[in-house]
Amino acid sequence: MKKLIILFLLAPLAVFAAQNGPHLDKAPINFHDEASLQRGARDFTNYCLSCHSAQNVRYELLNHIGLSNQQIEKNLMAAGGKVGDKMKVAMRPQDAKKWFGIAPPDLGLMARVKGPDWLYAYLRDFYRDDSTQTGWNNTVYPKVAMPDVLWALQGTQVLQSGTKIIDGRTVTIHKLVLAKPGKMTPAQYNAFVGDLVNFMTYMGQPYHNKQIDVGIVVLLFLGVLFVLVYMLKKEYWKDIH
Ligand code: HEC
Repeated sequence: MKKLIILFLLAPLAVFAAQNGPHLDKAPINFHDEASLQRGARDFTNYCLSCHSAQNVRYELLNHIGLSNQQIEKNLMAAGGKVGDKMKVAMRPQDAKKWFGIAPPDLGLMARVKGPDWLYAYLRDFYRDDSTQTGWNNTVYPKVAMPDVLWALQGTQVLQSGTKIIDGRTVTIHKLVLAKPGKMTPAQYNAFVGDLVNFMTYMGQPYHNKQIDVGIVVLLFLGVLFVLVYMLKKEYWKDIH
């Protein structure tokens, strides 16, 4: 019986180990870092909305991270429009299909679907690969149809394969190497992607901070209600005792 219980307790661990996915670095998520969210919003609108939409997000959401309507319209809505608009894609879906073979998916909730750590890895793990249609490949999403749109910042990576002997067995190891530097140093690029993923995660759950506020209001309300009901009860029973 005891053994069975232990087995039960270990079961989730076993499942976890069996997934055996690539190791993912932790994405630097911090919704209280308004400057990071603002940089992420700017980079997201600049680099991603040409191909992707974020339908659940309206530009006015950016008011909550400290940007005024004027700033939003001037700096983040290059193609015009109003802050009440949703984040739509610039490209026509039929063109996207023609160019990439697949329409780029909506990114509004992507951080929820894939997880921030996965996104953080995805955006840093593109590499040059002449065998694919775009000339790019990705270690966490092999054969992805998206070209590396950030290569000018990150530089060009290539995949190097080698063998290593671990515990007497020969294992093939792949690693990404920066073959040609971009405009940013690796540390700058990591910070850039960190901001982007921070914003994309925020975008997927923008009411996070508000939810806490609403919770507090509800608790306060219940507290006040309790006092009132208690007083009412006393009032009712006062003549009976
Ligand atoms: C030139 C067009 C283009 C641009 C610009 C672009 N993407 Fe993509 N993206 C694509 C296409 C096409 C796919 C579909 C790839 C597939 O499913 O094979 C894709 C897929 C993705 C996926 C994977 C979604 C999934 O289904 O798992 C993520 C995440 C993503 N893009 C994020 C971004 C981010 C973040 C940016 C901005 C930095 C960006 N993309 C800019 C074309 C683009």
